[in-house]
Parts: sequence; C-alpha cells; structure tokens
Amino acid sequence: MCGIVGYVGKRKVVPVLIEGLRRLEYRGYDSAGVAYLQDGELHRHRCEGKLINLEEIMEEVSADSRIGLGHTRWATHGAPSQRNAHPHCDCTGKLVVVHNGIIENYHSLREELQEKGHTFISETDTEVMAHLIEEHLENDLVEAVRMAITLVDGSFALGVMWSEQPDQLVAVRNQSPLVLGVLEDSGTFLASDIPALLPFTNSVVFLDDQEMAVLKKGSWQVMQAESGELVEKTPQVIDWNVGMAEKAGYRHFMLKEIFEQPQAVLNTFRGRFDPETGEVLLPEINLSKKELAQIKRISLVACGTSWHAAMVAKYWLEKWARIPVDVDIASEFRYRSLILNPNVLVVPISQSGETADTLAGMRLAKSMQAKIITICNVVGSTMTREADGTIYTHAGPEIGVASTKAFTAQMVALFLLTLFMAQAKKTISGEESRSLLSVLLELPVLIEKNLLRIQDEMMPISEEFSRSRDFLYLGRGINYPIALEGALKLKEISYIHAEGYASGELKHGPIALIDRDMPVLALAPRDSVYPKVLSNVEEVKARHGRMIVIGTEGDDELQRISDYVITLPEIHEDLNPILYTIPLQILAYQIANIRGCDVDQPRNLAKSVTVE
Ligand code: F6R
Repeated sequence: MCGIVGYVGKRKVVPVLIEGLRRLEYRGYDSAGVAYLQDGELHRHRCEGKLINLEEIMEEVSADSRIGLGHTRWATHGAPSQRNAHPHCDCTGKLVVVHNGIIENYHSLREELQEKGHTFISETDTEVMAHLIEEHLENDLVEAVRMAITLVDGSFALGVMWSEQPDQLVAVRNQSPLVLGVLEDSGTFLASDIPALLPFTNSVVFLDDQEMAVLKKGSWQVMQAESGELVEKTPQVIDWNVGMAEKAGYRHFMLKEIFEQPQAVLNTFRGRFDPETGEVLLPEINLSKKELAQIKRISLVACGTSWHAAMVAKYWLEKWARIPVDVDIASEFRYRSLILNPNVLVVPISQSGETADTLAGMRLAKSMQAKIITICNVVGSTMTREADGTIYTHAGPEIGVASTKAFTAQMVALFLLTLFMAQAKKTISGEESRSLLSVLLELPVLIEKNLLRIQDEMMPISEEFSRSRDFLYLGRGINYPIALEGALKLKEISYIHAEGYASGELKHGPIALIDRDMPVLALAPRDSVYPKVLSNVEEVKARHGRMIVIGTEGDDELQRISDYVITLPEIHEDLNPILYTIPLQILAYQIANIRGCDVDQPRNLAKSVTVE
C-alpha cells in the first residue's frame, strides 16, 4: 500500500525522502512523488512507475531544501499516472498533501468544493484533502488541518506542508499508521512504516488514531486532533537495524527471508519456555490464571497467510488445550453475527499489525468485551497497542511482499500459545510438553540443514513446471492449511493459477481437472493420515496427473507413486506444518524467478493492506 515519508531538519531533504521511499518500496506502489520548499517556493516532482523513474528526474534537479514530503502511491481512486501521483496541491500551489488510506465521502466533498470554485486536477480522493484544508486556511496550518478532518469519513494518514509556514510539517492519523522518527536537535522524520526511518534513527514515536503531530527541525509535538490538547509521548527505541532491512547478498528479499527462518523460529521460541520443566512462559499475555481459566472458546482472526497459520493452530489448540476454536478470515469475521463475550479469547494474527480488516475485527471483538491477544511481528504497530497483550514473533523485518519467515514464526508463537493454554487448563502432561518442546528446539537446525538441499532438489521440478497454467496442492489434517499456503505463495508471486485442497475433497470435484498437464503437489508425511493421503495420490496417478510428493525420509513407497519426491526428516507430526512449508516457499520462489516475475513486489499486491 502507499508509503509516506517526510523530513524537516539539517540534512538535504531530497536524498532523505528518496532513501525513505526506497525502504517502503516493498509495500507495493505504482507511482511516486516528492515535494519540498526552497526559497519560499513549493516544488513538486511526480512520475508513474517505479522509484527509479523519480530518482532520474531528481538527478536533474539541484535542490538544497531541508523540508519536504514524499509518497509512493498504490492506486485506489484513479489509474496509476503522474497526474494522480501524490503529493497533491491546493488551488494556490502553496500547500501539498500526501495521504494513505481512503476518504470515503470524497465524492460529495469534491462536489461541494467545486461549487465553491476549487479546481481539481486529479481523480484521487486525496486531492479533496488539499482543497478542504485550503478552504479552512487563514494563517495557521494546524488549525486548518484540524477543521478539515472533522468533515472527512474514512481512513487517513496525512502529511501536509505549506509554503507560508516553511519550518513545519503537519501530520495526522486516523486508521492508517504513521510514525515519527526523532533525532534530538538535527531533524524530525515522518513515515508510514519503520523501515523508512531505520537509515536515520531508531528512536520513534507512534501516533495513535485521531492524533496530530507538528514536526520541526529540532522539536516535535503530538496533540489530540479533536481538542488540540497536547499528548505526552516518549520515544521508543526499536531494536531493528538498517541491515535487517537489506538484501545482504541475496538476489531477493524473499529468498533472504526464506533462509532466515531458522533464526526467526529460534528467536520466536527463545526464552519462552523452561526446557527442564517444559513450562511455557508468556507473561506478555497479561491474563491472570483466573481469567485464563474462564476462557471457553478461542477465536483466531487473520487474513491471507496469517489465516493459514490460524488454521494450523486450530488443530493444536483443540488437540492439546481442548478448547473449541473458530478460525475466521478477518473480512468475514467483522460482518457476521458474532457471539463474543469476556469468556472468549480473540487472537488477531498479523505480520504487520496494521491490516485493516484484522484491526477492524479486533476492535469489534474488543467492543464486545472479548479478551484480545495479538500475534504480531511489528513492535508498536496498531494491533499491539490496542490488544490486551501481544505475543511477538521475532522474525525481524519482513520486506518481501510474500510472507515467509513471518508465517513460520507465527506458527511457532501459536504453538507456544497452545502449550501455554494447555498447561493452564492442565490438559497436557509435563512429559508431553517436554517432548513437544524438544522437537521445537531442534527445528531451527533441521530447517538450516535442509534448506540448501531442498533448493537443489527443487530446481528441476521448478524448471519442469514453470510454464504450467494451473497447479493443485493437496494436504490432509494439519497439513491442509499448508497446501493452501503453498498454493497462495505460487499464485501471488508467479501468477500461475493454483488451488489448495484438503486431499479428501479431491473426489468431490477437483479430480475432474486432472490430466497429463496438471501438476499436483501432495504433502504426504508419515503421520496419522498418511494412508489416506496415499490413496488420494493414487487417484491422481490413475488419471495421469503429474505428481510431486513431499514426504518422509526413507519412505520408498513415494518413488513408486510420484514423478518427483522431496523428503524431509521425520519429526513429531504436529510440527510438520512448519517444516513442510519450506519446500513450498522454495518452489514458488524458483518458479517465479524462472518466469521473470518481480518476486519481492508482485503485481497488484501490497505488503501492508491498510484499506478494507
Ligand atoms: C501472502 C501475504 C498476505 C498477508 C495478509 C495479511 O504472502 O503476505 O496474504 O498474509 O495480507 O497480512 P498481515 O499478516 O500483515 O496481517
């Protein structure tokens, strides 16, 4: 989704804006622009397409300015074009606005403003904001922004600059993230996401909904948008460094992140259990024993890949903690007749902590008095600030749009939550806990040991099937969500149509698709449903489907029934989903690469989906 960067300080602003926007490229965008003030005049440069186009334009411009705003736009209202790219101006050309989110009532506002004589240049909802602020502007930008936003419905993160008050930027947030980066006396930064700030500072201030900020060279202030009352905020230090958000020699962020999974898994469970006793320690849950004992149902809410992690967790929680679990796609959850109360634990799962649907679902659940524990990767993100407690996945920044290490880390966090709940409810023995945790402990090394081998063995498979039109992924039981995840990874980065199925469902429809051209990937570890999966594989083989099987080391049967086999070490079947995800990520990555796709920034997708 769109990215915002702003800066006022001692440095030249254009390189700061470009560097910040580069760090936000992963969010997905289709045009970019910057505006800055120099000698009392506002300058603006915008272009369609990638940031490199903007950089080329900026190389021709010698700008000495120290204050400005930058933006990468992901088109919602109006096609990706220079005209629709941000920043947008008012009629005087003295005021600019960058905006993330959607102004829902932009149409009626636009008509009203046009009647008052305002001229619109673009098709965007954002331009309304520029004219609306202009309409209320006398001599104080902060006042004008405050008045303008009272008339607006929808979500917004705004950065505003006016050449008549050339020493300040004004920012305001409502349902779309914004964060300040602060450097004592040398400058203040504005961004929609932390990676944009990392090259400059680790000291950040998160804005909450309906908060405004005034940014100056050596100072910043936060206030309530409605009342104007000052809000006390203390900068937080983020323990991510700039190297964590770089490729470190890998061809793509996605590949780097696949290879970071041993560390992500380890960091997510490290220090969270006692290996001697098997006791899981999650003080961050912030629920007393009494509150835990009262939980009668768990509701897992998420989107996309995070939803697949939730589906895996349902198997674990019901098996070990003996609690009924609902799993909902967040965009569905928020529109059904929910039955929630203080005895329901709602767990929103989100890498970014900003996904609009998950956040809305979480707020709805909170309003119905449910307890909220989020599983999240981004420190200080909105969900973490609004939940009763957060179990952080410590996967480090995930830049590739396709989620990889955050997914495996989410599963680890959910597995710990499972054991924690089971121990609180006394539905698991000490011996069982210790034994499961000993498998978890081994996982980072197991993944590490197998990554390169899987990469090599997968390459001929990727080459053979890179031109396929469709793909089926089959899994059963706890590996069914992994089949869904494999299919999602393939379709989002390679644009091959792929479907995941519970393998028992094959004969209820999808088997009609099987012919000599249809690649079918089956997850067939030697687990409790292994014989059933084998029968499903035989059904495909009998219809001449091209079979790729991921199964257990030493299982000779697999060679007989499949065209290609990749094996993985045998571990406790409950933890197979974490291990079996890895080859599917590698397959998708390799196929996308062979097809020449933009792996890290697939078309039409955004890393952080902050609109409904
Ligand atoms: C797929 C992918 C998306 C996200 C989804 C939710 O690879 O990354 O499906 O999982 O948009 O995002 P978060 O987890 O940030 O809420």
